[in-house]
Amino acid sequence: APPAIIAPSILSADFGALGKACSDTIGHGADWLHVDIMDGHFVPNMTFGAPVVTMIRPHVDKPSESFGKGTFDCHMMIAEPKKWVKEFKKAGCDLYCFHYEAAINSTAADEPSATSDKKTSPKELIKYIHDQGLRAGIALKPGTPVDVLYDILDSKTQDEVPDMVLIMTVEPGFGGQKFMPDMMPKVEALRKRYPELNIEVDGGLSEKTIDVAADAGANVIVAGSAVFGAKDPSEVIAKLREAVEK
Ligand code: DX5
Ligand code: ZN
Repeated sequence: APPAIIAPSILSADFGALGKACSDTIGHGADWLHVDIMDGHFVPNMTFGAPVVTMIRPHVDKPSESFGKGTFDCHMMIAEPKKWVKEFKKAGCDLYCFHYEAAINSTAADEPSATSDKKTSPKELIKYIHDQGLRAGIALKPGTPVDVLYDILDSKTQDEVPDMVLIMTVEPGFGGQKFMPDMMPKVEALRKRYPELNIEVDGGLSEKTIDVAADAGANVIVAGSAVFGAKDPSEVIAKLREAVEK
């Protein structure tokens, strides 16, 4: 399996001092920062948009290699994922992870390559993200079966294949929710089919739940409240990493 990547979610950071929270978190040993973007439409909560990403970017060195330390992993919980790709690229995002459910439901009026039925195909969107010089991720809500991804991951056109899959282990929208172990069969199925795939899990990950996720085959670990609520975030980050690497 690919290497362990620990990606604290800054959703649980102090938004009044976000720049420092970001640089501190990298100092505590995090590989990436997981940046939760919510539009109050795809999910029943709002966070922030590209201007805030632009302001926090200088607090964390840009990764020197693709997927390296300092990667901004932007989890786009938004109804119109295609619309914001260029802005997030400009803001300093490295990995643009959109929701499968948003792509297939998008009305796409503003989207240049919209097909006649006004839907953006996930493959088209992945290619578009790659064309902008970003890495692409595709996320699944708990209710979406994993097999919708097989046709996408099996594409013979390399530009249409995502660099990461995100299996949500809570309903997206809020930090601090309970981990859903019944999502693990999705992770297991993906790991079995795609030994080299980056598989991210997000929601309710902590020292208590990490073993289940790691055993299923997840290698990219998001943790919000567990890291930012800890007395010693570096210890939590180290323990999460150890569990994936063991
Ligand atoms: C939830 C977000 C998560 C959230 C995780 O919609 O996508 O990234 O911050 O928070 P915890 O780790 O507290 O469940
Ligand atoms: Zn997230």
